[in-house]
Amino acid sequence: MNREILNKIREINNKKTQKQKACVVTFGCQQNESDSEKIKGMLEAMGYEITESDITADSGGGAKAKDGAAFELENCGVVIINTCAIREHAELKAFSRTGQLKRYKDKNKDMLIGMCGCMVEQEHILEYIEKSFKYVDFVFGTRSIHKFPEILHNALLNLRQNNTEITETDIANITEIEEDMPAKRGSLFKAWVPVMYGCDNFCSYCVVPHVRGRERSRKKDKILDEVRTLAANGYKDITLLGQNVNSYKDPGNKNYDFTELLRDVTEIEGDYWLRFITSHPKDISGNLIKLMGESKNIANHLHLPLQSGNNRILKLMNRKYTREDYLDLVEKLKDSIKDIAVTSDIIVGFPSETEEEFEETLDLIKRAGFDNIFPFIYSKRKNTPAEKMEDNISHKEKTDRFAELIKIQREISAEKNKAYEGKTVRVLAEGEYKNDKNKKNNGNYLSGRTSSNKLTVFEYNGNVDLTGSFVNVKIKEGRLHGLFGELE
Ligand code: SAH
Ligand code: SF4
Ligand code: F3S
Repeated sequence: MNREILNKIREINNKKTQKQKACVVTFGCQQNESDSEKIKGMLEAMGYEITESDITADSGGGAKAKDGAAFELENCGVVIINTCAIREHAELKAFSRTGQLKRYKDKNKDMLIGMCGCMVEQEHILEYIEKSFKYVDFVFGTRSIHKFPEILHNALLNLRQNNTEITETDIANITEIEEDMPAKRGSLFKAWVPVMYGCDNFCSYCVVPHVRGRERSRKKDKILDEVRTLAANGYKDITLLGQNVNSYKDPGNKNYDFTELLRDVTEIEGDYWLRFITSHPKDISGNLIKLMGESKNIANHLHLPLQSGNNRILKLMNRKYTREDYLDLVEKLKDSIKDIAVTSDIIVGFPSETEEEFEETLDLIKRAGFDNIFPFIYSKRKNTPAEKMEDNISHKEKTDRFAELIKIQREISAEKNKAYEGKTVRVLAEGEYKNDKNKKNNGNYLSGRTSSNKLTVFEYNGNVDLTGSFVNVKIKEGRLHGLFGELE
């Protein structure tokens, strides 16, 4: 990152009579959330005040619905849309939000609009932005985040730019990890810590390796220092982040893998839960399971994307495990780690998936007994191997399978949550629970998460702000979407 330019922009902004505002809108996964924290950190260091205005807030209802948000936006000097390309729907959402910005820019000619993130690492998307979103002032991809101050500086000098010149080799060749960007964290008690970037797995449906580049890991010392600082500052929920965390390898010592890293992190002093996401089922080692079973601060939850319960589809997806391997793994996890919650991602309607093959997914879901799943309808992505497979499942079939999946999982989730009734669990309180139904009871409700990542709601009428603290909650009711209880 170019500090000189960063300071130059700050000087320009500091001379202005009014504080300059900036807004970052984030789509996509935690990786994008983490990148946005860096973009916000740089903006703040350049003298901008970050506003949290949400431009969906005034879509449909017009500016009337959220005067505050509209006003904030109108006064923004910089608006950044950090995009996600994982499914078509994600791309459409980002375009729709960018479209909404036009009328704000019409009112405020000085507003600069930038698009960044995974979408703009694709050539066809760049062409489309160039053609249809002429008021977008600059674009920068996932590998150029550290160049943001320079990009913004050029934009301030009124140069419409494309900073992405995309080639596959380019993105495949990034090896460096930039460590010097400031970050503005979104929370005072929950934090993301990226440990590795990119992905080498090339699942046949997935755009991530194409927009995030090859796997590269951060130096272990950098990660340990970051977690130490977080723990010392009272952070309670720390998530190690990567598209495939289990592929972590310290660049200085190839024998130092993810389990080693996790072991060293757990030894850092402090009262916090440690999470990690995402794990590929093929890379979960016996050592990792053992460590999870022994450790006191590793959270009791593993997100383990399955995608399909049928071996032919798994092979077409290039997932490199079978349904039998997956079930064995879940059994080992449940045997070694008491009450571990397992969640998963499922894709329905992958090209050529038959009804019988889909039923195998349903069967596996019942056998695995997931605490929750995130189901997705297959979405064809440009330049992926699956793009060339015939997308021959009708929309109706896909939505029917999706609905069936949700129906079955709801029963399992409700049953899992019921098993918590009568137990006392430790909960990290996150803030007020806003739900009209509960408000009718005239009570004040807080919500938080358990170590197993269950949403937990409890009544609290005291004066002390519990946000960001651990509390013990006695569970009275296990509901479909979470747990309900009272402070103990
Ligand atoms: N690296 C993680 C997450 C990747 S994206 C992993 O390997 O699990 C999150 C989820 O989006 C994936 O697990 C998958 O279920 C879903 N997904 C990815 N590409 C998709 C596509 N083309 N269509 C539908 N869902 C997709
Ligand atoms: Fe995509 Fe597969 Fe990599 Fe996950 S492991 S990011 S699904 S290619
Ligand atoms: Fe994440 Fe979406 Fe990019 S899921 S890595 S933001 S394509």
